[in-house]
Amino acid sequence: MNVTLRIWRQHDRHAAGRMVSYGVESISPDMSFLEMLDVLNEQLTAAGDDPVAFDNDCREGICGMCSLVINGIAHGPEELTASCQLYMRHFTDGDTIDIEPWRSPSFPILRDLIVDRSAFDRIIQAGGYISAPTGAAPDAAAMLVPKKDADRAFDAATCIGCGACVAACPNGSAMLFTGAKATHLGALPQGQLERNSRALAMVNQHDAEGFGGCTEIGECTAVCPVGIPLDMISRLNGDVLSALRDNTT
Ligand code: SF4
Ligand code: FES
Repeated sequence: MNVTLRIWRQHDRHAAGRMVSYGVESISPDMSFLEMLDVLNEQLTAAGDDPVAFDNDCREGICGMCSLVINGIAHGPEELTASCQLYMRHFTDGDTIDIEPWRSPSFPILRDLIVDRSAFDRIIQAGGYISAPTGAAPDAAAMLVPKKDADRAFDAATCIGCGACVAACPNGSAMLFTGAKATHLGALPQGQLERNSRALAMVNQHDAEGFGGCTEIGECTAVCPVGIPLDMISRLNGDVLSALRDNTT
């Protein structure tokens, strides 16, 4: 396959960026999208040009590092698929493919396709934990967890923290991420004690980072590579309301 790539190039967060075109030839349809970018970077390096900077780590859909807007869609055209799990067979020989970074004022561009997602870390620091005595691992049967709660917590815990939800949201909201992280803990017995205060602290930090409010458009869940559902946000909002009510009664 031969493809033309139009890639956002930006030297640092203060520089102006622009789309630059590159041709890549003899790509196997069985290559992943990131392997195709590796080929481009080998080409650029051999020619003495700067390789394209892009984030990645596991390349298995687990770490959440890959963060490409491909042809205008966060993580590209395949549903439930992170950029690193996308294969070139989903494109056609001769295609022109646009590749851009996540676009959000709360995710400033560091270089080319790499953005600063430390705002997510600060949301987790604000409440994404439980305060419990540590020690040896307890007996697995010491605290019984209803199956539906365990499943709910597990589904929420599959959020890989990639930020595609923010990139896709017209409001630039990170409420799907925040809802998943709060639900992961709040669905379990161990997370009940701080459930409402955790939700409030995380949402306050979300707002302080400049993310927008949720108006339930649903673009976030459409691009989420693990299918986090919108009702995680409803549950988060319920916990926030409970926290506000508890503080005023
Ligand atoms: S909710 Fe989905 S899109 Fe958002 S950070 Fe988590 S995995 Fe990524
Ligand atoms: S590189 Fe880890 S999820 Fe894509």
